[in-house]
Amino acid sequence: MAKNFDVVVIGGGPGGYIAAIRAAQLGFNTACIDEWTKGGKPAPGGTCTNVGCIPSKALLQSSENYEHASKHFADHGIKVSGLEVDIAKMLARKDQVVKQNNDGILFLFKKNKVAFFHGRGSFVKTSAEGTEVKVGDETLVAKHVIIATGSNARALPGTPFDEKNILSNDGALSIANIPKKLGLIGSGVIGLEMGSVWRRLGAEVTVLEALPTFLGAVDEQIAKEAKKAFDKQGLKIELGVKVGEIKNGNTVTVNYTNAKGEAQVLEVDKLIVSIGRVPNTIGLNAEAVGLKLDERGAIVVDDECRTNLPNVWAVGDVVRGPMLAHKAEEEGVAVAERIAGQHGHVNFNTIPWVIYTSPEIAWVGQTEQQLKAAGVKYKAGTFPFMANGRARALGDTTGMVKFLAHAETDEILGVHIVGPMASELVSEAVVAMEFRASSEDIARICHAHPSLSEATKEAALAVDKRSLNF
Ligand code: FAD
Ligand code: NAI
Repeated sequence: MAKNFDVVVIGGGPGGYIAAIRAAQLGFNTACIDEWTKGGKPAPGGTCTNVGCIPSKALLQSSENYEHASKHFADHGIKVSGLEVDIAKMLARKDQVVKQNNDGILFLFKKNKVAFFHGRGSFVKTSAEGTEVKVGDETLVAKHVIIATGSNARALPGTPFDEKNILSNDGALSIANIPKKLGLIGSGVIGLEMGSVWRRLGAEVTVLEALPTFLGAVDEQIAKEAKKAFDKQGLKIELGVKVGEIKNGNTVTVNYTNAKGEAQVLEVDKLIVSIGRVPNTIGLNAEAVGLKLDERGAIVVDDECRTNLPNVWAVGDVVRGPMLAHKAEEEGVAVAERIAGQHGHVNFNTIPWVIYTSPEIAWVGQTEQQLKAAGVKYKAGTFPFMANGRARALGDTTGMVKFLAHAETDEILGVHIVGPMASELVSEAVVAMEFRASSEDIARICHAHPSLSEATKEAALAVDKRSLNF
């Protein structure tokens, strides 16, 4: 017999599980369907929890700890001998961190009375009266459906992932032995994060990037500073390459031409392909109900995440916009609130980005090159961590904080950080921009001493050329 719900969410990643919880909080009888399985058991949390944000940060932390012990402890007068990496233990810890998150989501479903269905959800039929979704032998009938089916790694044409030698993000997070030589295609977010993990652990890492500029979406000055740091660490990044034939045998051979047009060969033990992700609607039976997709395979939605079908919404990686967990979550909350007749809202101008390398790179708002292209008059202020007492005490003085503010109104238009704990520091800028603060507002706020956040205040002061410590 069919089960009736107010809201059925398809997909239990950050977009889906958060939408389901918010819908339940708002008093809706809610179900969430997710198919992710580990060891025969449900593992909700999506890409982010299982093969994305969480496991990558666990490995980044482990590998950073190792690098500190092997390279930086000596500066503090701490001698280490017999240092070794136990990869099996490191991976087991990462799996445990993931499991805590999977279990946490199942607990939250119970706590919020969200009915969880493990399996693949697919559309049967839809109309203004309700939508039928099948999961296993069950049929759910919903007044509203929220699709949050996420994305999958994009493979290079003709080079499928075997997750043994040619790895997507999935395999990249489970390499059992440190490769002697590791190749990555794409120096985007995954390329830099995964490249950093395995370089720190001892692999010789080469990243091949098609574009001639490094991190083109990042503020140029910040990207340059980050590139300098990665070069110093020995992360080899080749820009402007054209990848050709890839042979997969005992090792992986990548034929490519470099920026000068010269033919090159890269032979590696493992190759991670991180050239972006594609929206996922596999198995959703989208065609049967006439759900509209765009040419990239993303579900077409309006500004409020409505699809072309009545009472069917879509959020997260499967729709337009940045493929970020917090963007997916915000959309999930906003849709649940719109279903309740409230005014859920996502401000795309204040979505922060973080790349969890060392130094971390984080930003919100517009870059200097975007402001120039748009003809906006702006003022810039920067402050280097080298001049920050806390950064010196930490022994991590790479990078800077950069403010961009409107030349006339002083409204903050963008904040860009490369350096220690940039991921945490950027939140202050997000709050400030959400409240449409001026750089002077930040400059006049008391920041704790000694703290990295003083670099934020000083960069704001620098906008009007009145830094106190530089
Ligand atoms: P997903 O997390 O992909 O979840 C979709 C879920 O739906 C999956 O569980 C899937 O199995 C399920 N599903 C799909 N189809 C069906 C169906 N028909 N029936 C039932 N279930 C279905 N973002 C950040 O913000 N910060 C980070 O640090 C970060 N790190 C990342 C690191 C890596 C290596 C990768 C790959 C991504 C990272 N991301 C990060 C991006 C982030 O993972 C995604 O933006 C986020 O997971 C998108 O959430 P979502 O809910 O839209 O989709
Ligand atoms: P990406 O879009 O960040 O980077 C892909 C890179 O590959 C680009 O620089 C692109 O120019 C390059 N490229 C594309 N085709 C190529 C080719 N044929 N040869 C060489 N280079 C090529 O995508 P990535 O790294 O795969 O990550 C996917 C998404 O996952 C990110 O965009 C981000 O949304 C999300 N993510 C977020 C993280 C975070 O927030 N810290 C961490 C990891 C992923």
